[in-house]
Amino acid sequence: MTHRPYEIDQLISAKSIAARIEELCADIHAEFEDTDKLVVVGLLRGSFVFIADLVRELNLPVEVDFLEASSYGDGMESSREVRIFKDIRGKIEGRDVLVVEDIVDTGHTLNHVVQILSARKPARMKTIALLDKPSRREVDLAADWIGFSIPDEFVVGYGIDFAQRNRNLPYIGKVRFTDQA
Ligand code: PRP
Repeated sequence: MTHRPYEIDQLISAKSIAARIEELCADIHAEFEDTDKLVVVGLLRGSFVFIADLVRELNLPVEVDFLEASSYGDGMESSREVRIFKDIRGKIEGRDVLVVEDIVDTGHTLNHVVQILSARKPARMKTIALLDKPSRREVDLAADWIGFSIPDEFVVGYGIDFAQRNRNLPYIGKVRFTDQA
């Protein structure tokens, strides 16, 4: 599959992403303005670019932690079996937590992670995803904040990969296979 030739068409520009992050951070700030310290948990690997831009735009005391979950392997279809490769380092009991996801597709990954972290009894936990593909949802879940709702396109860039490539694009693009009619 990865040997198939493809091109990438821009779907969401870097400028649009930056503008949307400013708006999202205003909402997050309003929700958490009374917090002592917000624990921002990025889901690796896809959220590493988003969380970097998000925390730099957030005018709040933050602690940054990471959890690595994967449901895709190197394929294009979710395996629906979420594996945790790396847990967060810090304790979240009684703390305010923001879980940062790059994209919610079937919803299995975020659902699984929210269940695991909720069991640790945070004081308040919210979720944010840069992208949402509601048409693909298999579990009843919605992130508290969404950057952009998108159609069912295979997207890459801004942290999101296709077989571990294209994560370093500064924009969100969609994959177009060039061997298709
Ligand atoms: C992708 C993406 C989300 C998840 C969304 O991660 O980064 O975490 O899939 O899919 P879902 O809603 O169907 O569960 P992936 O498993 O590819 O790992 P990665 O973040 O390391 O790329």
